[in-house]
Amino acid sequence: MRVLGIETSCDETGIAVYDDKLGLLSHALYSQVKLHADYGGVVPELASRDHVRKIVPLIRQALKNANTEIADLDGIAYTKGPGLIGALLVGACVGRSLAFAWNKPAIGVHHMEGHLLAPMLEDDAPEFPFVALLVSGGHSMLVKVDGIGLYEVLGESVDDAAGEAFDKTAKLMGLDYPGGPRLAKLAAKGEPAGYQFPRPMADRPGLDFSFSGLKTFTANTIAAEPDDEQTRANIARAFEEAVVDTLAIKCRRALKQTGYNRLVIAGGVSANTRLRETLAEMMTSIGGRVYYPRGEFCTDNGAMIAFAGLQRLKAGQQEDLAVKGQPRWPL
Ligand code: KG4
Ligand code: ZN
Repeated sequence: MRVLGIETSCDETGIAVYDDKLGLLSHALYSQVKLHADYGGVVPELASRDHVRKIVPLIRQALKNANTEIADLDGIAYTKGPGLIGALLVGACVGRSLAFAWNKPAIGVHHMEGHLLAPMLEDDAPEFPFVALLVSGGHSMLVKVDGIGLYEVLGESVDDAAGEAFDKTAKLMGLDYPGGPRLAKLAAKGEPAGYQFPRPMADRPGLDFSFSGLKTFTANTIAAEPDDEQTRANIARAFEEAVVDTLAIKCRRALKQTGYNRLVIAGGVSANTRLRETLAEMMTSIGGRVYYPRGEFCTDNGAMIAFAGLQRLKAGQQEDLAVKGQPRWPL
């Protein structure tokens, strides 16, 4: 089975072709980061318009690079939600319409299911069951995963998502959008300076997260400290360590609760080096393993949507003819 995947939920147009025997045949990505940088965040209407401009050329390019004709395709998968409604509708309209015109089945994919399954695009894919830590710009959640579609959300953020906390804190530090990777880069130059940042909700039972307090704590620390590059780097490091530690504490708790020894991390923040290293050490210490996608598949991409869509189509699911986008959609 061979599937064309389309991702347009936010500010990346991602297109890919995935084949269940041959693996990933091609993927094409256009990032709108530069377009939104002047505004300090994603402007929904500009995002929709840019998806409209890029989607068809990228589909042509992905099909060509995959050496795939329309006749070779067995289905079309697109992100149906959650995300920005205008952006989602571009992918849904194009995906659903092409499927209709080409007489193929179509499937609307949950964006977070895409992230969750992204480590399965790698040669060394995790086997079920596992615990997944999904940390992106819009979501932070811990999920018990027993198979395709067998997901139980164990905990999630009660306020800011982990990536959102990175981005907002980066903004406080005067870093440009998107702030997460920039803050991580600054933190790498930081030294342990003895700051006592909180580990929010770590001393309470349960698997929910809260990150907005950390952002405020960082703002107060910045205001109280001298305004020089090294101090900023030290504060960035203390913030990053606090987020990573908090996530690690909750992952460990989720593994204990489920009795599983495989941990998957995915979503934009899973590209963070300190998070990867900390979780790898923790998993080794408890006799388990951590799995994550290659860097380019941590953030939004079409490959994860093609992969997740293929699994759904294979299980016999498909969309009716209506074009639907779901800005809010529980996993
Ligand atoms: O999954 P993603 O591309 O988009 C959403 O579905 O939200 O995640 C983007 C988020 C942004 O908040 C970005 O700042 C964060 O992931 N991010 C990082 C790093 N790379 C991306 N956060 C911390 N460290 C990084 N290296
Ligand atoms: Zn995402």
